Amino acid sequence: MKTTKKLLILAIASFSTVVVASDYKGDRSKFATEYKNIVIEPQWVDSDTIELVRPLNVRRWVYLGAPFTPHALNGNKANFPEFHNVYVQEEAFQHYRDHGVWPEGTMMAKELQLVDRAVGEEGVQKDGSRYEPSGRGYFPGKVNGMDVAVKDSTRFSESKNWGYFNFGHHAPPYKVSSVAASIGECAGCHIANADEDMVYMKMYRPLVEPLELPEALKITH
Ligand code: HEC
Repeated sequence: MKTTKKLLILAIASFSTVVVASDYKGDRSKFATEYKNIVIEPQWVDSDTIELVRPLNVRRWVYLGAPFTPHALNGNKANFPEFHNVYVQEEAFQHYRDHGVWPEGTMMAKELQLVDRAVGEEGVQKDGSRYEPSGRGYFPGKVNGMDVAVKDSTRFSESKNWGYFNFGHHAPPYKVSSVAASIGECAGCHIANADEDMVYMKMYRPLVEPLELPEALKITH
């Protein structure tokens, strides 16, 4: 191998060591490589890293809800003016229903979806709303970014067992992998404000709990 190539590889390797250190100081030899209650497991670029490979097909997971903070209600400069579509693996969802806790290896994916059409475009009102046969409102348009949160106490004990990853705040294609963001960037706000185990459960609870079955059906089940 040519020396220049070797040097390049060394440079990349030492750079990734610095990045991986982040503010997470866990013992890398103890990082989880498998998650016993999870089928679609988090994939790490290497087993001793906190660099997550973007999970594929999250749109096929269980849909938890779509909090929404439009520009019109945030002085026209909302940080996240999109619908925040939140998905979780099916087996994590079932585990939560059965035990009331998210298992190790849970991934919450949040895909951002812009309001369809902007102010100034045809038919759009000053507050960004417009009309559909259902009424005046905000309707989902193009997708615009992907965030993921992973529960892994071996990697993220410093931030209450969850790590946070940003795969780009823009139209696809999204990044293929991402190193855990610093605690200040993401986890800090979840630590301070989320109502249950780092997740804003109060927003999703109505979709997480099973629908009551009618009395007649209960007897036969
Ligand atoms: C200033 C506070 C704040 C910061 C900083 C923040 N979040 Fe959140 N996050 C929220 C709130 C509030 C929700 C739930 C409602 C919503 O989506 O608006 C949420 C929801 C999420 C969800 C859906 C699951 C859940 O916990 O409800 C993911 C995934 C997520 N955030 C990832 C991230 C990532 C990745 C970063 C850093 C790039 C980040 N967050 C930074 C406040 C924050």
